[in-house]
Amino acid sequence: ATNRTFTMIKPDAVANGHTGAILDDIIKGGFKVIALKYTRLSEDIAGQFYGIHRERPFFKDLVSFMSSGPIVAAILEKDNAVEDFRKLIGATDPSKAEPGTIRNKYAKSIDANAVHGSDSDENAEIEGSFFFTAFERF
Ligand code: CMP
Repeated sequence: ATNRTFTMIKPDAVANGHTGAILDDIIKGGFKVIALKYTRLSEDIAGQFYGIHRERPFFKDLVSFMSSGPIVAAILEKDNAVEDFRKLIGATDPSKAEPGTIRNKYAKSIDANAVHGSDSDENAEIEGSFFFTAFERF
């Protein structure tokens, strides 16, 4: 079924000039851009977004990294969007990401891993709604 996922191009990939190449990979991968925003997260907002990881040992570093510079947020649409997007970006740890995947090409470490992708339809809706109102979706 056609459904949606949510992504962020993270501060490392934006700072390293990969925004255009990553959006191109996403669009060529068959995803339609429904919403798009260039912004910077405060530590408070990053902590809210990643609240599900609050008790994890990497939480503090994750929040500090994600608020370290601007990001690009997007809602994407495709058949089987969540699963297909996770295939396109590759494993969370870029050293384990398949050749040709976005993280394999553009990421340096498990924290600076270039992109976020939702892990379920339910979280895709929660994360997309965190960033975008109904008037920002096309
Ligand atoms: P993301 O998909 O944005 O969701 C949470 C992020 O935490 C993840 O990508 C990684 O960048 C980061 N992270 C750091 N360490 C770990 C870890 N051990 N397991 C999972 N995610 C981690």
